[in-house]
Amino acid sequence: MNLVLMGLPGAGKGTQAEKIVEKYGVPHISTGDMFRAAMKDETELGLKAKSFMDKGELVPDEVTIGIVHERLSQSDCAQGFLLDGFPRTVAQAEALEDILANLNRQIDYVINVDVDKDILMARLTGRRICKSCGATYHLEFNPPSQEDKCDRCGGELYQRADDNAETVQNRLDVNLKQTEPLLAFYNEKGYLKNINGQQDINVVFEDIDWLLEGLRK
Ligand code: AP5
Repeated sequence: MNLVLMGLPGAGKGTQAEKIVEKYGVPHISTGDMFRAAMKDETELGLKAKSFMDKGELVPDEVTIGIVHERLSQSDCAQGFLLDGFPRTVAQAEALEDILANLNRQIDYVINVDVDKDILMARLTGRRICKSCGATYHLEFNPPSQEDKCDRCGGELYQRADDNAETVQNRLDVNLKQTEPLLAFYNEKGYLKNINGQQDINVVFEDIDWLLEGLRK
């Protein structure tokens, strides 16, 4: 299955990606995670990405398209992939069409996790992530059993550097501008599936799962 997971910051892309990967075993390609890993390793890519991510701006298309192209060409993507947070601009979507055409592949679904923008600030400022395994929690909506400890592996929980109120506001503003034309692009192509992201986390997954089960028939 060749999937794209779309949604505004905090819509629940990462949360649902974890569940999709667990059930379907597709490689999870999150551009945000790739940039954060590069920042941690202090590579050239990481230093470049940091200057944009710290402000909540998008990393330039040519940089982002390059890393996705390279990743999709790796052998573990031959049977499918789950793109999370890419594409985010129409230019990235067009580049993805070219990359996939060269690989003789096509997107099955673009799953848009749809959430009203007004609730995203609370979702992002309350998010906590496990330092060891990357599991995502929310202090109010999906709390760990023990404060600051991961239920899954006991790892320490932390808050992402770009989850402070000021940067979140800019991330939302920047992404809102890009989203409408991108949704129109994919709607036109017939790939777009909208999922109500304001339901319980497990119910959102049931809706996505129903779609994905259809692909296996
Ligand atoms: P990225 O890492 O992709 O962040 P984002 O798009 O801002 O999205 P998030 O990861 O913050 O949110 P999410 O939708 O995964 O939500 P989550 O599941 O964690 O990108 C970061 C930066 O990298 C960008 O700002 C940009 O600079 C750069 N970048 C990345 N890709 C790029 C690209 N293609 N082009 C250019 N630049 C790029 O959920 C959020 C919280 O809500 C959690 O606490 C969770 O527990 C909770 N939650 C989830 N679902 C529910 C629910 N149904 N009900 C209640 N709570 C819920």
